[in-house]
Order: sequence, then structure tokens, then C-alpha cells
Amino acid sequence: MTPVYSRIVATGSYLPRKILTNADLEARIDTSDSWIRERTGIVQRHISAPDETVSMMSEQAARNALAMAGLAPEDLDLIVMGTTTPDQIFPNSATMLQERLGIARIGAFTLEAACSGFIYALNVADKFIRTGDARRVLVVGAEMMSQLVDWSDRTTCVLFGDGAGAVILEAAAEPGIIGSLIHADGRYRDLLEFPGGVGRDFRNLENVYLQMRGSEVFKVAVATLGQSVEECLARFGHDKSELDWLIPHQANVRIIQATARRLGMPMDQVVVTVDHHGNTSTASIPLALDAAVRDGRIQRGQLLLLEAFGGGFTWGSALVRF
Ligand code: COA
Repeated sequence: MTPVYSRIVATGSYLPRKILTNADLEARIDTSDSWIRERTGIVQRHISAPDETVSMMSEQAARNALAMAGLAPEDLDLIVMGTTTPDQIFPNSATMLQERLGIARIGAFTLEAACSGFIYALNVADKFIRTGDARRVLVVGAEMMSQLVDWSDRTTCVLFGDGAGAVILEAAAEPGIIGSLIHADGRYRDLLEFPGGVGRDFRNLENVYLQMRGSEVFKVAVATLGQSVEECLARFGHDKSELDWLIPHQANVRIIQATARRLGMPMDQVVVTVDHHGNTSTASIPLALDAAVRDGRIQRGQLLLLEAFGGGFTWGSALVRF
């Protein structure tokens, strides 16, 4: 039997209209534009409206990607959504997205891997296509991190933003997704978590917020991502010199620069959106990918390396022939 691969046929994104600048934050908390820029590279972030939800933002990103592909929602046969901030505990937000798209019957589920969620979702969707169980999959990363942070805590609130990104994966005779690897190490839970949920303080979440030991997370992220991208290249038989673009998870420009250095890639081959989006967790890679596809930087046939690291810890990389 001829092997089946998956390839990205279209990308899409959505960012909430409201922009929160570093200057806006200066007016609210004890911080400064120069501190935020120097330590993180962030200049502004988008914040969802009070009536917005992850499934609403996902619908916009999905329709955007469908339009690029020239497809209708009926052409999809699976929805895989990564999110840490679902509309509700259940039904899962992918079913809400499905309903918004006006389609029924096809499988739709969410998975949660914090900031690595998009790499996890891509990994899973690729497997559905390779096994022949699906031929066209909508893969979404959508997040409302603004709802998880304590807006009086300057060590975390300056970092995050909201948004949604999507890709459409289709069966193809050639890869596409050359390969992707996912990893996790639950021993690091205390360094980055939202310590509330059904098993913990569920009825009393009012004062529960995202918690992070930033400088410790930073060190593990830099070391882990460096190993992760090298592992991905070696596993799938490519050399770093072949890469056209690095599309990293957008948490901190200094983490991104460290990974680029490890790969010997100049920053003009790295897609950076953290300056304008902040850390949108699961949404950050598809948002960055869509930005660089739409402005013409990423061209068909180019070799892309995607990588992410997040709470758990979770991490992963994907090598993609676009
Ligand atoms: N404005 C001004 N000062 C701030 C500040 C802010 N927004 N946030 C923290 N500070 C202060 C701290 O209180 C500390 O002050 P002190 O020295 O008087 O105690 C000082 O800045 C240095 O703090 P530190 O946490 O050591 O800074 P850092 O260089 O490690 O940068 C992060 C902080 C959060 C930007 C950085 O650690 C980071 O990006 N970590 C990884 C985050 C991440 O990627 N998370 C998601 C993974 S998906």
C-alpha cells in the first residue's frame, strides 16, 4: 500500500480586537515598558472581550483557514483542538466549534498540553491521517490566558495574551509533516501551573491564578528546547543547515534566541510574534505560522521546524515540509 502522509494546506488565525500595551500595564501595576521589552521582547498583547470564548475565537481562525484552502466546513472529517482554557469542562470546546461551523457527526475533541498543545494536536492529527482514519483534519490552538492570570501579579500578567490559530491538514502522497515528537515530565508541575480544577479547590476558584517560577522555567525551557530540536532533526534525518524557518512557541524572545543560536540560525529565519501577541500558549505556533504564510515569508516547499515547551512540563517539535 502506498504510504499516506499529511500536509498543511492552509492556515488561519484570529486575534481579539482589544490590544493591551506595556504602557497600559505601566498605568496599572509596578512595571515598565523597558523591563518587559528587555526581559521578554513583548510590546503588546491581545485580550479577549468579556463575551468572547475559545470556541468563538476558534471559529474565526477556522473559517480563515478554510477560506485560504477554498474549502467548506463540510469538507472536514475531524477536529482536533488544543486548549488549556476551554469554554466549559464539557462538552469539549471542539464540539462547540463544530456546532458553530454548522457541521455534525465528524469526531471533535480537545487535548490539553499547556503551551505545547499545538505540537501535541498536530502529532495526533497527523497520525489520524497516516492511518487512513481521516483525510482532512482541522487542527486548532486557541487560548484565553487572560482569564488565568492575576492582573495584579507583575511577574506573570505581563507575559500572556489571547488568540486562536488553525491549520488544515490533508492526506498527501508526500510529507508534509515529516515527523513530530512529543514529550512530558510531570515532576515539574510546581514550576508552572494553574492549581485549580475538579480535583483541587473546584468550588472555590475565585483566588486561584496561574503560578510560575519564571527563572527556573526559563532555564529548563532553554535546555530542553535545545535538545528537542536536535532530537527532531536527527530522528527524521535532516540537518539544521537545511532549515528555512524556525517557528517557535512564543513565550519569551530570549528563549527563542537561545534555540535559534543552538540551531545556528540567524533571527531573520525565525518567525517572532511574541512582541505583538505575548504568550498565547497553545495558539502561539499556529498564529506565528499564519502570520509568516500570509505575509509571504514562508513559501511552499520550504523546510520548517516547529517547537514548543509548556506547563507539565510538556514539550515537542515537528519537522514540516510546507
Ligand atoms: N516588571 C518589573 N519588574 C519585574 C517584573 C515586571 N513585570 N516581573 C518581575 N520583576 C522583577 C522581579 O520582582 C525581580 O526583582 P528583584 O530582583 O527585586 O527580586 C526582578 O524583576 C528579576 O526577576 P526574575 O524573575 O529573576 O527575572 P527574569 O530575568 O527571570 O525574567 C521572566 C522573568 C518571567 C520574564 C523569565 O523568567 C521568563 O520568561 N521565564 C520563562 C517564562 C515562560 O516561558 N513561561 C511559559 C513557558 S511556556
